[in-house]
Amino acid sequence: MTRYRVPATMAESTRISLSLPKKLLKEFDSLSAVTGQPNRSKAVSQAMREFVSSRRWDVASKGEVPGVILLTYDHHSRGVNRALTELQHDYPDVVTATMHLHLSKHTCLEIIAFKGEGDRVKNLAKTLQSQKGVLEVKLVTSAV
Ligand code: NI
Repeated sequence: MTRYRVPATMAESTRISLSLPKKLLKEFDSLSAVTGQPNRSKAVSQAMREFVSSRRWDVASKGEVPGVILLTYDHHSRGVNRALTELQHDYPDVVTATMHLHLSKHTCLEIIAFKGEGDRVKNLAKTLQSQKGVLEVKLVTSAV
């Protein structure tokens, strides 16, 4: 018995033609093969879905959106731990859970799961980014 969903065929598909830089296409094809995409059409569909998912959210930030924030920071930076905790407590309508990983002697990674209004999520990410000691903030939203 199959315990996973078999993807539907590309029933409603349109054939398009593109001009792309050779080097970019070569790199795309080799990475697609490594990540298990069966063919170029599937790989491009997946890449476009990711693009649409991130951009749609960026453009229309109304409504609730789920996702995670990946936050790396230098925990030796004075006051950063407290600032990050305070900040997350200011967004109880957005932050649902946090996982903390100690990456090295200096660097921590926090995975902040969220579900909330787009504008609030954006503000949270921006404010996190502006804290002293924060190295990188990545926002990953779900397509659903
Ligand atoms: Ni840590």
